[in-house]
Amino acid sequence: MPIPSRRSGFLHPVASEITPRAVYEERRQLLRLWAAGAAGATLAAWAGRDALAQVPRPGKLTALPGAPSAVAGALSLEKLTSYQDASTYNNFYEFGTDKADPARNAHTLRTHPWTVEVEGLVKKPGKYGIEDLLKLSAQEERIYRLRCVEGWSMVIPWVGYSLSELIRRVEPLGSAKYVEFVTLADRARMPNLGSRVLDWPYVEGLRLDEALHPLTLLAFGMYGEVLPHQNGAPVRLVVPWKYGFKSAKSIVKIRFTEQQPATAWVKAAQQEYGFYSNVNPQVDHPRWSQATERRIGEDGLFAKKRKTLMFNGYEAQVGQLYAGMDLKTFY
Ligand code: MTE
Repeated sequence: MPIPSRRSGFLHPVASEITPRAVYEERRQLLRLWAAGAAGATLAAWAGRDALAQVPRPGKLTALPGAPSAVAGALSLEKLTSYQDASTYNNFYEFGTDKADPARNAHTLRTHPWTVEVEGLVKKPGKYGIEDLLKLSAQEERIYRLRCVEGWSMVIPWVGYSLSELIRRVEPLGSAKYVEFVTLADRARMPNLGSRVLDWPYVEGLRLDEALHPLTLLAFGMYGEVLPHQNGAPVRLVVPWKYGFKSAKSIVKIRFTEQQPATAWVKAAQQEYGFYSNVNPQVDHPRWSQATERRIGEDGLFAKKRKTLMFNGYEAQVGQLYAGMDLKTFY
């Protein structure tokens, strides 16, 4: 039976009687923040942690746990997409252009040994073996919405750390304005490299300040395990406020440049896929609207489409990066 708190006079349990000390301390901290007016975001983070505690571990690959992220906005409260859907409905054109192709074909990918080379305009260029890269910073778990330019979306619990951790280590020079991500192009192991659908290797890029934003995640896992091959093993990017194609998979090079990188999709169809590619319901793709989205797993004849949110719902966190920019010109 809960013991009434004498101090407040209200009939509610004294937290110290029923909860472990660490949890109790955290709740006190929450109450302090609440009093300071900062509770909205903190409460959301709290609920996000509960959501993470319930992430079903698929038990298929090596476990990769992470502590719930404290980065503002990193823990979406939406219902998670099932692991089955997230790992079988993919875009990874190196393995084929059908959504089922990556899960079917990516078993040929070899993720060990794996090296990521950091080069270009940095004081400390270098090569990182995947194990060292993984251990460079503590792993965090984050729940991000991923909105694909094709009009569908998912909610996925990722494991990784802010790319900024790596960027600070390599010390970009003052002349570095952009970061380019080059991904693996291995003809022997990637069956679709013979096709001309894209100019391989798949290359993506961010402005340096976008790359430094704490929400930009260097991801090694999802659902508490290492990434399945089809989701970009052993290391990929996740940029939650941009269309999914900015989130490059199976990265082998991170290059700091002065010029805006020539990305694979801009090269393929500049009028359809801009360099920025921020999720923006007001800027339609030339061939379809971007105002709504279909959540994978909620299909069915009567499933209602969702309204797409500006910056995929991360406007409070990232809107400032684009202050003064015309986002119809820089789409
Ligand atoms: N990375 C590489 N190397 N090749 C790709 O074809 N597709 C992109 C992105 N990263 C792609 C890639 C696109 S279009 C999307 S929507 C996301 O990966 C999909 O990520 P997911 O399959 O994990 O949902």
